[in-house]
Amino acid sequence: AIVVLDYGSQYSQLIVRRVREAGVYSELVRFDADEATIAALKPKGVILSGGPNSVYAEGAPQLPDWVLASNLPVLGICYGLQLQAHHLGGKVAPSNDREFGHAVITITAESPLLADIPSEHSVWMSHGDRLETLPAGWHPIAVSPNSPYAAAADEARRWYGLQFHPEVVHSPYGKQVLHNFIYRICECAGSWQPSQFIQEAVERIQQQAPSGQVICALSGGVDSAVAALLAHQAIGERLTCIFVDNGLLRRGEAEQVSRTFRDHFQIELITVDAAEEFLAALAGVTDPEQKRKIIGEKFIRIFEREARNLDDAAYLVQGTLYPDVIESTAPDRNVAVKIKTHHNVGGLPADMKLKVIEPLRMLFKDEVRAAGLALGLPEDWVWRHPFPGPGLAVRLLGAISFERLETLRHADAIFLEELRAAGLYRATQQAFAVLLPVQSVGVMGDYRTYADTIAIRAVSTEDFMTADWARLPYELLAKVSSRIVNEVTGVNRVVYDISSKPPATIEWE
Ligand code: XMP
Repeated sequence: AIVVLDYGSQYSQLIVRRVREAGVYSELVRFDADEATIAALKPKGVILSGGPNSVYAEGAPQLPDWVLASNLPVLGICYGLQLQAHHLGGKVAPSNDREFGHAVITITAESPLLADIPSEHSVWMSHGDRLETLPAGWHPIAVSPNSPYAAAADEARRWYGLQFHPEVVHSPYGKQVLHNFIYRICECAGSWQPSQFIQEAVERIQQQAPSGQVICALSGGVDSAVAALLAHQAIGERLTCIFVDNGLLRRGEAEQVSRTFRDHFQIELITVDAAEEFLAALAGVTDPEQKRKIIGEKFIRIFEREARNLDDAAYLVQGTLYPDVIESTAPDRNVAVKIKTHHNVGGLPADMKLKVIEPLRMLFKDEVRAAGLALGLPEDWVWRHPFPGPGLAVRLLGAISFERLETLRHADAIFLEELRAAGLYRATQQAFAVLLPVQSVGVMGDYRTYADTIAIRAVSTEDFMTADWARLPYELLAKVSSRIVNEVTGVNRVVYDISSKPPATIEWE
């Protein structure tokens, strides 16, 4: 594997993704991870991430001794390069000309790190400090207008440093740089594929849960589905899945879960019809955070109740992904201000005496999808848009009732059906209808109407942190609008949401 030491850059995860995409397994570990953790990964090379600190600032994270003592190739990126220099006798100083954004670099010396790359090309810079003096044994291999050492190397020791970020898409030859490092310099074999992970995951689950019952909460999303399928391969009939129908799902969703898991995969499935219980708890509630709280707590209570009915249940399988694991252990990364509380199926009580098994904790979303396909999960499930835990409750503004939920479900089903028919479902990352607490005047035939408004939202996004509204074709919007007002009782107006995130969020609540 290639070990990436995390110094807190917002791009740290991306480095790992790029290395895996190039066919070599990689993990992000804290810069101060213990040596046993590192040794278990059998590293063939080390990458030092960027980070927000200055190497000479008090308390700044430093280079671990094991890196200095090892004979492994090391690639420092930005802060990583400055660390290398700082520890080996070079000099780092604040730069008057900070470099942010695009810069053109020129390759000035031949190096395996920069093989097969044009001698002038554009890269993405983001740094305040810069390297003033190289350590002994190092020489520059590329320069930029503001960095005499845009890239530098100690070829004999196989230590390399980059002032720019090869992991971001704005460095078009960055992939090649990383490719050169892992293949030409670290001499990795490079056959890693997400599907390879399945066998390992299955074996690990067998070791983690050698006996006893294992339960898994299905949400209808891809993560819990893949986690359940892996567990089923590993332990077969000892697995029971629990699916809580909270009455806040989209049309046909509950049926699809039982069709796929019970009928197709023949997995033991308990479906809990808790719609009435949820609706009763939500009666009259209009505040979004209050809705989330009630739904989260209700889910936990119901899940506990069901789990207690299973004798001998000792383990809980959860679909936690790598980005969540990374965020919860990251050093120093600026913690985002909480805008909304995101309840997931994962939010289970600490006092449940179940041991947690997280078979996806080393995977990124696209790798989970690849594993899902390899496990035979139907394609439309694998490529499903994310759906929030509180479901339609946060897409139905104002107080929730069964009738209003039905109105929203119907409008939402029409929109998604037309989006799929137009071949644009996968071109958007999230698409849905919202029922507004707004009535307006309309005319139908010779009658005046005073009826509900449906908002249609479709976004394109890479990471759901920022998003843009999807430029859907007018013809599609026209068809969706006309079908909704004609087919959904009580709706006389359809609007398309043209807000980006920020300043809006993706959901309306
Ligand atoms: P926002 O609305 O914050 O949404 O732009 C970003 C992503 O998070 C999802 N989301 C949620 N997911 N529980 C969830 O499990 C929640 O309470 C929740 N609120 C928002 C949203 O669907 C989008 O994918």
